[in-house]
Amino acid sequence: MSLPTSLLTQLEGLDAQQLRRLLVEHLTRQKLGLYWEANAIERDAALNANLVFPRLVPEWSRWADGAASCSNLIIEGDNFDALRLLLATHRGRIRVIYIDPPYNTGNKDWVYNDRYVGANDRWRHSQWLEFLYRRLTLARDLLAPDGVIMVSINDENRARLELLMDEVLPGRRLGSLVWRTKDTGNDLSYRFSHVHEHVLVYANPGFKFNGRQTDRGKFRNPDQDPRGEWSPQPLTKAHTFIERENTYYPIRDPGTGYWYPCDPNRVWAYASETEIMQRFNGDEDASAAARRSLRSDTIEQLIAKSLIYFPPCRPEDVMCYASREALLDAIRAGQGPMLPKKKTPLLREDLPDLDFWIGKPIAPGRPSRKEHWRARPQEDRLAPLCSWIAGMNETLPTSDEDDAAQLEMLRSTRGGVATEEVKAILGSKAFSYPKPLSLVKGLLQQATRPGDLVLDFFAGSGTTGHAVLELNADDGGDRRFILCSSTEATAKEPAKNLCRDVCAERLRRVLQGYGGKAGLGGAFAYLQLDRIELADVAGDATAAHAAQLLALRELGGAIRADAIDPQVCQIAGDARLAVLLCATVDDAVIARLAAWPAERLAIYSARPDTVRQLLEERGIQVNSYSLLDALLRGQTTLRTQ
Ligand SMILES: C[S@@+](CC[C@H](N)C(=O)[O-])C[C@H]1O[C@@H](n2cnc3c(N)ncnc32)[C@H](O)[C@@H]1O
Repeated sequence: MSLPTSLLTQLEGLDAQQLRRLLVEHLTRQKLGLYWEANAIERDAALNANLVFPRLVPEWSRWADGAASCSNLIIEGDNFDALRLLLATHRGRIRVIYIDPPYNTGNKDWVYNDRYVGANDRWRHSQWLEFLYRRLTLARDLLAPDGVIMVSINDENRARLELLMDEVLPGRRLGSLVWRTKDTGNDLSYRFSHVHEHVLVYANPGFKFNGRQTDRGKFRNPDQDPRGEWSPQPLTKAHTFIERENTYYPIRDPGTGYWYPCDPNRVWAYASETEIMQRFNGDEDASAAARRSLRSDTIEQLIAKSLIYFPPCRPEDVMCYASREALLDAIRAGQGPMLPKKKTPLLREDLPDLDFWIGKPIAPGRPSRKEHWRARPQEDRLAPLCSWIAGMNETLPTSDEDDAAQLEMLRSTRGGVATEEVKAILGSKAFSYPKPLSLVKGLLQQATRPGDLVLDFFAGSGTTGHAVLELNADDGGDRRFILCSSTEATAKEPAKNLCRDVCAERLRRVLQGYGGKAGLGGAFAYLQLDRIELADVAGDATAAHAAQLLALRELGGAIRADAIDPQVCQIAGDARLAVLLCATVDDAVIARLAAWPAERLAIYSARPDTVRQLLEERGIQVNSYSLLDALLRGQTTLRTQ
C-alpha cells in the first residue's frame, strides 16, 4: 500500500520553508508510548463528519407487554457510527464497557474498509491500532465518572493494546486478568503452548470491583470474648525459618503453659520481645530500639491484649519428649508435632532448636489471631477480586494459612465451550470464537451493580447481553445492555446479517426460552443507523429519527414505533413535566399542546419561537427548544481527523 493521496496532496501544497519546518518538527518530536503510522495508512472509511440517526426496526425488536420504551438496545452497523450516536445520547452514562475486539491475528479475523487484514499486510498493526484508537476514544467519553472498561485480548497483541489504552485513558490502568483459554496448545514450531488470554481493565476514579462480602457466619465467639464475634486469622507469613530467622521462635500459652512450635516453612507474622532480647544478648537499650522500629504489635503484646486464640486441647493429646532420642524417634516415625491440616512436621531433625523442646509440653493445635467483627468497617471486609481466572474444575487453595484463600476468584470454562453454548441456543455453529458465558458473566458480576448500564460495541454473538440477563435473573437486578454489532456483510456475502441473525436471535431465544430452558424474560429494541450529511439534517431527518434520538437522550431507551404520533409525540415525562416533539407546527398542533395534561411542557420543534409565542398568547408558558439544535447536539463537535 502506498502513501494515501490526501497526504501527498497536502505535502505538495507546502513551500520549501513549510516543508523544512515540518521536517524539524517531525525529527524533534519525542514521545513516550506507542507510535503507529496513522498518517500512512488508508483512512478508515467509517470515519465521517456526517451525522447518524437511529431507526427502530420493530419486527426485529422484542417489546415487553405494555412498555412504552426499552433501554436494552441492539444497534446494527459499524460501531464507529453506533458510538457517535451514543455520544449524543449516553455521554457519561455507561458504567461498564466490556469488549472483545478482533485480535488482529492475521487469520482473516477482522475487516478494514471492507477488506480482511491478512498476516502479511504491511500496515496491519497500524490499521488495527488506528481502528481501535478511534473507537476507544469515543467509548472513553461514554464512561460514567466511576465507569470501567474491560477489554479481552490475546497474548500476542496485549502489549500493543495496553500501550494504546494508556494513550486513550492515561493513568486509568487498574491491571489485567488472565484467563486460561484451553487445556492444550498447538504451536509446535517453538514447543510452546499458548493457553491464556488477558482482560485489560481501565477505570475512572471511584470504580471498584465488588469483591466478596465476608461471611459473617465465619465470625463466632467460642470463648465468650466480651468484644463479640471474631474469626481466626492466620498468624504466619510465607517465609521459611532460614529466610526469616528472627520470627522463627516458639510461642507459649500463658494460660495452660503449653508450647507451640513455629512452622519452619511459614514463620510467625509478628516479632517476639523474648527473641529480640536474646538477639541483643539482653542489651535493654538495643532491644528497646529494635522494638520501637516495629510496625505492628509483638506476639507478647497480642497475647496480653487477648488477641491470640489458643485452641483448647485435651491433656492426653499434649506431647512431651523426655530426651533428644525420644523426640528424634517420634520425628523419624512421623509421630512428632505436625500441622493439623497439612500434616507436615513442625519439628524436624535439621532444625536448630531441637534441644529446646526436650521436656516441654507441646500442644497439638495452632494458635491464631482474633479478628473481631467490630474491629473494621464492613467496607474493608471485602475479599478483593483475584486477577487469575480459574478453570471450572481447577483446585483452589483452601487452607486458612494461604493468602489466596482470602481472594474472590472468578471461574470460567475454556474457550471451546463457548462455541457449544451458541450452538445449543441457535442450533448451529453460528459464530466463531465467542467468549464463554461464564467468563463474561463473572466479569460483569464483579464490575456491575444491579442497576448499571453495560455496553459491548464488539458484541459478536451477544454473549454480553446474555450475561446481563442471567445476572439479573440471579439477583433480581435491573442491569441494561447496549450491544453494537456489524452485519459482517461483504461483497461476497452481501445479505449476511450477523447482528440480526446471531446476536439478536440469540437474545430473542434467551428471553423467550430455548431447548426446554425457561426464558429469562425482558426486551430489546433493535436499531439501525442512518447517516445524514450535516447540511441535509433539517430536511432529511424524519420525525421518527428525531423521536428516537430524543428518547434515547431523555429516557436512555427507544420508544415503540406506534407511540410516535406524527403531530405531537410525547417522548418522556409525567403529569408534572412532559417532553414533547412536534415535527410540524400548525393550528391543530398548537391546540393539542394547549390542552396537554401536564403542569409544564418542554417542546422540541422546528419553529421554537413560533410555538412559544402562540402558546403565550393563550396564557401558557412553555420551554421551547429548537429541534435542529437537539438533533445536532453531541455529534457535531466530533472531529474525524
Ligand atoms: C471477537 S468477536 C466478539 C465476540 C463476542 N465477544 C462473543 O462472545 O460473541 C468481534 C466481533 O466484532 C465485530 N466487529 C468487527 N469490526 C466491527 C465494527 N467496526 N463494528 C461493529 N462490529 C465489528 C466482528 O464482526 C465480530 O463479530
